[in-house]
Amino acid sequence: MSGSLQSRVLRGPAATLTGNPFEQPSRGCLAYHDDALVVIEEGIITAFGPHAELKDALPAGSEVTHYPDHLIVPGFIDAHVHYPQMQVIGAYGTQLLEWLETYTFPAEMSFADAGHARRVAHLFLRELLRAGTTTAMVYCTVHSQSVEAFFHEAARFDARMIAGKVLMDRHAPAGLLDTAQRGYDESLALIERWHGRGRALYCVTPRFAPTSTEAQLDAAGALLKTRDGLFLQTHLCENPAEIEWVRELFPARASYLDVYAHAGLVGPRSMFGHGIHLHEGDFCTCHQAGAALAHCPTSNLFLGSGLFRLFEAVDPRRPVMVGLGTDVGGGTSLSQLQTLNEAYKVAAMVGHKLDAVQGFYLATLGGARALGLDGKIGQLAPGMEADLCVLDPRATPFMAFRAGYCASIEEVLFMLMTLGDDRAVRATYVAGRCVYDRDREDDPFRPAIPSEE
Ligand code: GUN
Ligand code: ZN
Repeated sequence: MSGSLQSRVLRGPAATLTGNPFEQPSRGCLAYHDDALVVIEEGIITAFGPHAELKDALPAGSEVTHYPDHLIVPGFIDAHVHYPQMQVIGAYGTQLLEWLETYTFPAEMSFADAGHARRVAHLFLRELLRAGTTTAMVYCTVHSQSVEAFFHEAARFDARMIAGKVLMDRHAPAGLLDTAQRGYDESLALIERWHGRGRALYCVTPRFAPTSTEAQLDAAGALLKTRDGLFLQTHLCENPAEIEWVRELFPARASYLDVYAHAGLVGPRSMFGHGIHLHEGDFCTCHQAGAALAHCPTSNLFLGSGLFRLFEAVDPRRPVMVGLGTDVGGGTSLSQLQTLNEAYKVAAMVGHKLDAVQGFYLATLGGARALGLDGKIGQLAPGMEADLCVLDPRATPFMAFRAGYCASIEEVLFMLMTLGDDRAVRATYVAGRCVYDRDREDDPFRPAIPSEE
């Protein structure tokens, strides 16, 4: 599916994380070559290193695409995003629970129309690729067709995407409710159809504790046991009013996280969105279970939810894995660069400095580890799937000016994460194919399977 048998080679400055900069000095966690080759065969990276060392071993007939003055990095990983919320991004004036009622639930109702779901999925996939994001963990809506539309569109690009049908059996409009049994049956049918098909992976998706009965959370736990390698996503401790509501709804549970633990939802490949107001015991539970948190700074600021304590979460004494989430439409950008911009400021507000290597770790290798997909995505290295992003540090006149004052790769990365956004993404490669080229004048997108429209 991923293209020709011929080698494809990218040449240019390139950087990849090689270790965890929250556990070791950042300097030792980044591999950077100012003139590198990335050699790709059948969608997999077969070699990565300095041009001078690799050029003589290139297979005959290799097609070399040169990006001088750019920066090749692994494709970004978005650990938490809602594709049906594209139409309410930037909605004014509310905090979480009122925002859900006023904007989000009505928007998600429109996905009862399969045509609408297809149109939004079409736009969403392209916006992700335009932002350099090649893998995302995605909430669809309660409607099975929203999942169908999403995975169909992702398959056109041969993209490694994780997604699932939202489960809600209470406290939402009637048009968005399923039941514990129906949610189970519909999810299982989607799992059978999509999990492991091409690069698609299925994620069991109870929205959050207030909109699922205990029976539905138990059904989600049962679903997780139906296949190997399934994922779990939900929201956790995002907003004080939400947390209080969970306390009232589940008085027998020791904590919000315990509601999920009781249903068997806290384990490897579990991704909890937000986790702003967690206690030390919750961090210990996540660490022991191998569960991860999605840090969603633009959303947490936009909805006024609070400041995530990233450096406390990743404390090396009991590290919790953390990925970076845009959380659109609570979040305000699909760009991981813009998300890092806000992550830096949130860390600063709670007394820490997020350096550029740590930032790029969250958006690439750290995200892959949080999803249990390290070894497949998140790094430039032989054996990895060839999902890449080519960044342009001189994308705007201002960035070009500022880049002239960057004296190291760390300074370039930091400038990209403060000033960069989708304009700084020159090209995006998925499974070795250039699926997006900013500078292609007709249509910048080239899906592996052309769209029907
Ligand atoms: N909690 C439950 N649903 C949602 C959602 O759609 N977005 C955010 N940010 N939090 C939630
Ligand atoms: Zn969310």
